[in-house]
Amino acid sequence: MSLRRLHHTQPESFAFTTANKKWTKSQIAKFPKGRQASAVIPLLWRAQEQEGWLSKPAIETVADMLDMDYIRVLEVATFYFMFQLQPVGNVAHIQVCGTLSCMICGAEDLIGICVDRIAPNAHQISKDGKFSWEEVECLGACTNAPMVQIGKDFYEDLTAESFIQILEDLNDGKVPTPGPQNGRYAAEPLSGLTTLTEMNSGEYDHNTSVSLALKYDDTIKRIQGDEVPILKPRNKTAKSKAS
Ligand code: FES
Repeated sequence: MSLRRLHHTQPESFAFTTANKKWTKSQIAKFPKGRQASAVIPLLWRAQEQEGWLSKPAIETVADMLDMDYIRVLEVATFYFMFQLQPVGNVAHIQVCGTLSCMICGAEDLIGICVDRIAPNAHQISKDGKFSWEEVECLGACTNAPMVQIGKDFYEDLTAESFIQILEDLNDGKVPTPGPQNGRYAAEPLSGLTTLTEMNSGEYDHNTSVSLALKYDDTIKRIQGDEVPILKPRNKTAKSKAS
């Protein structure tokens, strides 16, 4: 396990965009008075979605909003590996699964490509500022190993060639279609379905998660908060339904 601490270089300040601030209020309102701290993970996550990583000012801003001690929020941010505590590439941060299935199926090749094409070390930004990478633990797509997470989506069933192509597309400003890269629909056997063979056959071009990725087109997008409607707090909806 690596030591997780704040980055040596920090920005002067952090502020949520107006739309994101509105969104954070809708999250905080989900919890009873005095329990606002329960919104700490959603707020930290939104700060990361906005900036790409979590800076000290962002952590302190979230602490102030939730009336928490800075150290409490820092504990959360340093505990969970999903939080990036250092700047990431301004196009994409590549998370390569290095656990058993992926390692057996070629994760070392993918890591080698990251070293050659991005930077020699994990969490180091490429010279052009566009990319960074890290090795992560199992991301739960073992059947489709080896795989990487890029932004919000998975790229699965990779080969060295298909992974290089993905990096090149991203470098050219394109966002390649996520999901299996070998023509597989989801996680069915490579030789094709053996049961429920009539299921979805030919009905959809992509599985649900790929379809949503294409619909929202937010794989590597920074989230400014105006992309989706801000939903009302659940307790208000429940009250209005009851009355
Ligand atoms: S081992 Fe890589 S996704 Fe599970």
